[in-house]
Amino acid sequence: MHNKRIARAKINLSLHVVGQREDGYHLLDSIVAFADFGDELTFAPAEKLDLRISGPFGSGLSDGKDNLILRAAQRLSTGQGAQIDLLKNLPVASGIGGGSADAAATLLGCAELWRMPNSFDFALDLGADVPICLRSQTLRMQGIGDVISPLWCLPALPMVLVNSGDAVSTPEVFSRLRSKENAPLGKMPNAEMTIGAAVAWIAQQRNDLEQAATDIVPRIADVLATLHGSGAELARMSGSGASCFGLYPSIDAAEMAAMEISKRQPNWWVRAGVLGD
Ligand code: C5P
Repeated sequence: MHNKRIARAKINLSLHVVGQREDGYHLLDSIVAFADFGDELTFAPAEKLDLRISGPFGSGLSDGKDNLILRAAQRLSTGQGAQIDLLKNLPVASGIGGGSADAAATLLGCAELWRMPNSFDFALDLGADVPICLRSQTLRMQGIGDVISPLWCLPALPMVLVNSGDAVSTPEVFSRLRSKENAPLGKMPNAEMTIGAAVAWIAQQRNDLEQAATDIVPRIADVLATLHGSGAELARMSGSGASCFGLYPSIDAAEMAAMEISKRQPNWWVRAGVLGD
């Protein structure tokens, strides 16, 4: 029984670094939402586990044993095989959870193929963002990604996501952080907000990794300035970078901005969409 899944792009609307554990992992407090686009994975019966990769960002990925998709499938398998096809639409190593979203989609896709329950208590071992990608809904993430609470107060948010082609290493960004104990998120709203109120609330928050990532890839500052210049009401980096998003008052405004940015920066990857459940 063949099945298909979209591994939606993960956006950290904000990401506060609030501490560090003894093992070096950082404690986070982050608002996360998912885009209405992502990588596409299909799962078909096969004797062995096999992965085929295609798509605009497919060449940047290994299809060997270290690939997170194969690691996720192997971890779940009790001997079953699967033919997995990945259409890699999203830039890699770019702060939008690509590898983790693909791993989460693999767990769900293989579990369906192999008629296994959706219980993946090892998900966090595959990657810090795998548990949130399994949920693929707007949420607050705390701890190292293990404490997850759904968030109902955010409306669908029109956005533009931009990647300038600069890959960033997550451990390197964390190692360059100057302050590891920053203020957590403020009070959570308890009723659904308008787009304007949501943007104002998110604007009070931060991405504490943005400065460290910009020290490594100065072009992040240009991407943020370009988003601001295109009419974004808020522009911020996602995750450990280097992808940045802008939020707009309407889908039309986001689509217009994406067209304008693509025209000015033909080498950047630019995509308009909607964030939300
Ligand atoms: O778990 P994942 O592979 O996404 O994390 C990559 C690296 O980022 C970790 O090995 C660690 O160095 C750093 N990291 C961290 N604190 C987190 C998440 C990731 O220090 N909460």
